Amino acid sequence: MAQSPLIYIVAGAFLSYILYTRITLYLARRSFIKQNGCQPCTARFNKDPILGLDVLKIMNYNSKHHIMLRENLKRFEKLGNTFHNRIVTMPVIATREPENIKTVLSLKFKDYSFGNRTAAFTPLLGHGIFNADGERWANSRHLLRPNFARDQVADLEAFERHFKLMLKHIPRDGKTVDLQELFFMLTIDTATEFLFNHSTHTLRMHGQGDNEDVIFGRAFNFAQDDIGQRLRFGPLDRFRKNEKGEEAIRICHVYIGKFVDDALRFRKELDEEKRAGAGKEEKYFFIQEVAKQTTDKKRIRDELINILLAGRDTTASLLSNMFFEIAKRPDIYAKLRDEIATLDGRTPTYEELRSFKYLKWCLNESLRVHPVVPGNTRFAIRDTVLPLGGGPDGRHPLFVPKGTTVGYSPYAMHHRKDIYGPDADEYKPERWENLRPGWEYLPFNGGPRICLGQQYALTEASYVTVRLVQEFKEMESRDPGPWEESLTLTLSSLNGTKVGFTPA
Ligand code: HEM
Repeated sequence: MAQSPLIYIVAGAFLSYILYTRITLYLARRSFIKQNGCQPCTARFNKDPILGLDVLKIMNYNSKHHIMLRENLKRFEKLGNTFHNRIVTMPVIATREPENIKTVLSLKFKDYSFGNRTAAFTPLLGHGIFNADGERWANSRHLLRPNFARDQVADLEAFERHFKLMLKHIPRDGKTVDLQELFFMLTIDTATEFLFNHSTHTLRMHGQGDNEDVIFGRAFNFAQDDIGQRLRFGPLDRFRKNEKGEEAIRICHVYIGKFVDDALRFRKELDEEKRAGAGKEEKYFFIQEVAKQTTDKKRIRDELINILLAGRDTTASLLSNMFFEIAKRPDIYAKLRDEIATLDGRTPTYEELRSFKYLKWCLNESLRVHPVVPGNTRFAIRDTVLPLGGGPDGRHPLFVPKGTTVGYSPYAMHHRKDIYGPDADEYKPERWENLRPGWEYLPFNGGPRICLGQQYALTEASYVTVRLVQEFKEMESRDPGPWEESLTLTLSSLNGTKVGFTPA
């Protein structure tokens, strides 16, 4: 049967259109590359350039053997500070150049988004700050930022109450205790009190059976770990049977929903009292401040669960990694004790905490050697350029086509020997005497999306460290091996933080 000539005309027009758009894109890119002086990056990780399955296999092996970061560092040392990679169909540029990272996170912030990581985060986190881009993110940041002012983050009285509960679980007869386990309980207890005005009190309930708070704590841990699974399965995740994950998310949402209801009720009463001319004596509560700005129940719930996720494991991981290192170095512990001796056994004020220089060096150094967010990605939403990585020496600008993922590694950057010296892999607080790094040191991210909870985290970690050092005159490591990585959403110690204490 003869074909209608119309089909040929339509097909021809379609092909011409494709050809036209391809040629225009090619010409536009050629001129963009020339204008920016870009040169191609010759360093490439994949041997399989089509599907990049070799990389998947290697990553799988490294993840199983807890050597992801170590191997990634070796790769940078072999290939250079910026190289190309491909994970299945996803083109990736990996970098540990401070200038490139500054460009992605700050100078050309608007050229990037989170990309497809949001799909894995949305079931638990909804569209809160940690999982939003563009206008939505800007709104969230505007809503939440005032709540992180100094007065609000420095509730030392709350830290002391929870610290005392933690202390009850630390043997005073030198028996071994896993501090990491306790730090994770402490930080969920303090973060829930800070955010919901109701603590989970997992430290109080430890070993006492279940209640609603303990069930929430467990469900939150599960749902959070499940994000890692969702990320690994990617687009195939929708075919995974995951009843336990769905149930954990439901428990979290119902639990937090009740506190949101309370906060909205409080706002209603406040509005009524204000209308009646009466002023209520107001104590600051995070959830109530957010409820003063919006009555959207899901929005409040989403934002709070995002901050809980952003703030809880990070601070616990910092403490665990730091105490792992210090437990192996009695000289560092002794110096810390000397520094805080000025308190004469009193609990510290906020100003005193900030004045402890050696303590600050210990925290900085832990976040350098073991950054708790050791790697991150951004997705190019338009053609753009990185200042470094092009040419055989990697010193020329590099073209980044729209649709490329830029993976940046604070871990690999913090271990650069040309920046931190030949002993870059060692935990050495004293190096901070002369260090004043800029973008070479990035534990809290930089640019418009810099961590909102940095002061909160450092205040809590400093407080807990000072109080532990006051209570115990010596600490001994009970882990014969070196620190090993446990990489979930954050980086903590694979074997926990096993130590024994001698009371002061
Ligand atoms: C040692 C502790 C912490 C570290 C190392 C840390 C690190 C980071 C990093 C690297 C990011 C950027 C993530 C990204 O954009 O992909 C971030 C974002 C964030 N962090 Fe932290 N964080 C810590 C503690 C906290 C705490 C305690 C809170 C809250 C109580 C918090 C709240 C946030 C929030 C809300 C964001 C999102 C900011 C935005 O996207 O605008 N963080 N943090």
